[in-house]
Amino acid sequence: MRLTLTSDLWWKNAVIYCLDVETYKDGNDDGIGDFRGLTQQIDYLAGLGVTCLWLMPFFPTPNRDDGYDITDFYTIDPRLGTLGDFVEFMRTAKDRGMRVIADLVVNHTSDQHPWFVEARSSKTSPKRDWYVWADKPEPDNPDQVVFPDKEDSIWQYDGSTRQYYLHSFYRHQPDLNVGNPEVRDEIVRILGFWMELGLSGFRVDAVPFLIENVDPKLAEPHEFLADLRAFMTRREGSSVLLGEVNVPYKDLVAYFGEGLGDQLTMCFDFISMQRTWLALARGEAQPLAEALKSRPKPPKDCQWAMFLRNHDELTLDKLTDEEREEVFQAFGPEKDMQIYGRGLRRRLPTMFGGDMRRIKMAYSLMFSLPGTPVVFYGEEIGLGENLGAEGRMAVRIPMQWSKDGGFSQVEPVREVPDGPFAPDRVNVADQKRDTESLLRWFQLLIERYRECPELAWGEYTVLDTGHPAVFAHRADADGATVVAVHNLGETAQDVRLKLPGLSGRQLTDLLVDGTVKVSDKDVAEVPLGPHGCRWLRVSDPEVPPEDASVKAK
Ligand code: NOJ
Ligand code: CA
Repeated sequence: MRLTLTSDLWWKNAVIYCLDVETYKDGNDDGIGDFRGLTQQIDYLAGLGVTCLWLMPFFPTPNRDDGYDITDFYTIDPRLGTLGDFVEFMRTAKDRGMRVIADLVVNHTSDQHPWFVEARSSKTSPKRDWYVWADKPEPDNPDQVVFPDKEDSIWQYDGSTRQYYLHSFYRHQPDLNVGNPEVRDEIVRILGFWMELGLSGFRVDAVPFLIENVDPKLAEPHEFLADLRAFMTRREGSSVLLGEVNVPYKDLVAYFGEGLGDQLTMCFDFISMQRTWLALARGEAQPLAEALKSRPKPPKDCQWAMFLRNHDELTLDKLTDEEREEVFQAFGPEKDMQIYGRGLRRRLPTMFGGDMRRIKMAYSLMFSLPGTPVVFYGEEIGLGENLGAEGRMAVRIPMQWSKDGGFSQVEPVREVPDGPFAPDRVNVADQKRDTESLLRWFQLLIERYRECPELAWGEYTVLDTGHPAVFAHRADADGATVVAVHNLGETAQDVRLKLPGLSGRQLTDLLVDGTVKVSDKDVAEVPLGPHGCRWLRVSDPEVPPEDASVKAK
């Protein structure tokens, strides 16, 4: 592939790794992860092949929403270190060729942020209009309440000034009023500040809420996103905005900046994520195949971000009630595993009951799908969850470095799981020594993903496999082609793929050994084991076709 002129579009085939400094590694033995600890682990991340870190919020916070409730946007939570530690961390990441992006949480602040304290002190406070107030808000639509276990409205009455304030999330997170130009300027200042300290961009929290959830925050909501992006590009041409935008595809295109690509550089693909879970639950490719076929092409230079799990609930809000129930039954049948009536508070390996073949296949699928993969820390070792923790905190457990945990020299502030996912059974040190481990599998997938830029950059085609359980697609770019085939079912299958234009070529397996010949009728017969997966690079036969070995995984 000719990448010479385009390799600066680094986000197109990055490997993004999301972590919370607080749960990654404790560097000063107080039981809380911190920047010094994280800095010690940069070589581990570089060895894994990560090219970009996404840091969850690391700012001062009362921590009532795990840091998504901020009291100061311009410094570090003292529990995690100092600005000095942050800069040392940034230097080390840069030295290892890794970029860093961070959560930008500006839809709201904590109610303890000095801006809000001032705003609520009187109706005439200069900061009053930095938030959204109403004498008598419109009645709530129940769909607008994001956390129905804790809230029943998005408006909270403030007794002292006798008005309601808007909070799209918890009542302790008042929404900022981006309709106010001073607020918009302040947001730009925050971006500029962290970019000066070396960030390559931001994961933008709750974008639809930020710009257009409640009228009339902004007359031209998308203009604001374009302004943010333009500002960043002026300061640093290769900076990115990665948006949390969980809306149907038809509405999502506007967030890239339809046709122009001048707003969010990347958007998480929540739709194909949810359809993948339905496909995995059914052992049938169709839900995923349909999603990818209907997915709009992002504007030039923009990209989809692919993921299976993140730090929140596994939201299934875009499935029908029946479909969601199917996923619940397959992966989280107990009430305690479910949350908000729409999601699961589990990590992937426990949902597969620890079945390594399925787990490896699912991640192979994720890395092969068209887009940029985003890994949630610990996925690479099959970290489990702690259902004893409250709500979404179940999946935000300390990283497991060694048999004794290795997260801290003292008892971690957050509990680790026991049983089959306890640190003595699931940890980095053991998996580094085991060639069959999930960690080694991730390393291989990441290496191959980076070696196959077609997967991320190319035109993709979902292939007809003739087997409901098998999902196959091909990615073509600049005359190079990779074909990926995944068996979501537990019976072995011989798949017959029609590959127009590839007659007489050879498919070389990139994950395990073996080659497959493409016939002069453009057909390849690909054997797949139960939950088997193959990434096949199209090449010219090295040996006469009649001698080529055909080997199944
Ligand atoms: C989305 C974040 O991913 C979630 O963790 C948080 O609670 C809400 N936004 C509110 O900031
Ligand atoms: Ca610490």
